[in-house]
Amino acid sequence: MSRTDDILFRPHRLGALDLKNRIAMAPMTRSRAAQPGNVATELTATYYAQRSGAGLLISEGTQVSPVGQGYAFTPGIHSAEQTAGWRRVTEAVHASGGRIFAQLWHVGRVSHPLLHGQQPVAPSAVAAAGAKAFVVDGGGIGMVDTPTPRALTTDEVRGVVEEFAQAARNARDAGFDGVELHAANGYLIEQFLRSESNRRDDAYGGSVDNRLRFLAEVTEAVAGVFGADKVGVRISPFLELNGIHDDDPHGLFLAVARLLDGLGVAYIHTSESSPMELPPGHDPVPAGFRTALREAYRGTIMVAGGYDGARARAILESGLADMVAFGRPYISNPDLDARLAAGLPLTEPDRATFYGGGAQGYTDYPPLTQAAE
Ligand SMILES: Cc1cc2nc3c(=O)[nH]c(=O)nc-3n(C[C@H](O)[C@H](O)[C@H](O)COP(=O)(O)O)c2cc1C
Repeated sequence: MSRTDDILFRPHRLGALDLKNRIAMAPMTRSRAAQPGNVATELTATYYAQRSGAGLLISEGTQVSPVGQGYAFTPGIHSAEQTAGWRRVTEAVHASGGRIFAQLWHVGRVSHPLLHGQQPVAPSAVAAAGAKAFVVDGGGIGMVDTPTPRALTTDEVRGVVEEFAQAARNARDAGFDGVELHAANGYLIEQFLRSESNRRDDAYGGSVDNRLRFLAEVTEAVAGVFGADKVGVRISPFLELNGIHDDDPHGLFLAVARLLDGLGVAYIHTSESSPMELPPGHDPVPAGFRTALREAYRGTIMVAGGYDGARARAILESGLADMVAFGRPYISNPDLDARLAAGLPLTEPDRATFYGGGAQGYTDYPPLTQAAE
């Protein structure tokens, strides 16, 4: 099949941007930021530039404040030094013909004082069952249980909204093409959305409308910087990661979709499965949600989680998604777009080098296509 006939390579208008194909690189934490300061490096720039054949790259989660960090060595976007680090990345990506959004991240209760010296913050003082933070302690590094967080006061919630706005200004100054809000996987924004973690009795808790308020304010704040047509929002309605739970995810996330439709964001990105293998043919999203999402929201729908070329083409052909994001395949296949186009085999990633370290398992996976073409 030539690229012209292949639905994966049909150009796509994403909000304000014209993309060369329907392929995104999913956001992936790689824990290689320079210390001290959690700064993206020249190696980070090389890594993303190598993958710029994707229509859109989405950066690894980048914390909007010190207390918003949950894992050691993740790059932030709240200091001038961090902003300068990211500028190297966006320049390298743009020079390679790519586009890149920053994934703005606040982990909320999925954190630990060993990372920043503070008690983690959340909508309510409810610990995340089974959640772990990744910390450096003395000479050692490892996963530790996350403690019970402190509930943010109403004024502090507004302060966190402002931290997201400042992070968006930094992202703009760093040359990003837009931002993706990390409202998935049990982190702060999702902690506000779901009833299990949000027990507030002020304007940010209680009814579904109130639980949506934090997401609405953060989205409006970053849209005020970039324009809503350069903002995406990542959700994971049917994953219960980091202890998160809600009795009615279907209803809750359709309300989220209607909210984001009204705000005019460029895309909704659904994270459909955690990084584990799916049984063949299994769709992790309940029947009916995909069509209901399409009806509730008029922008671009991006999906991620266990996609290969065949599943990606099938969902695009069905009309229920407009773009597909690939995570692990992009770790070990920097030229994934070209391999998908040519039907070339994919290299399996080495899990041992997912998080931390240097170039090994990061920038040293070779492209296949140079040899094959
Ligand atoms: C090493 C690694 C790090 C990840 N970090 C993030 C992250 O920072 N933000 C996020 O939203 N998802 C993160 N994810 C989830 C991926 O974006 C993606 O949804 C998941 O890997 C499933 O897609 P895949 O089957 O194509 O890998 C991460 C996944 C992996 C494997």
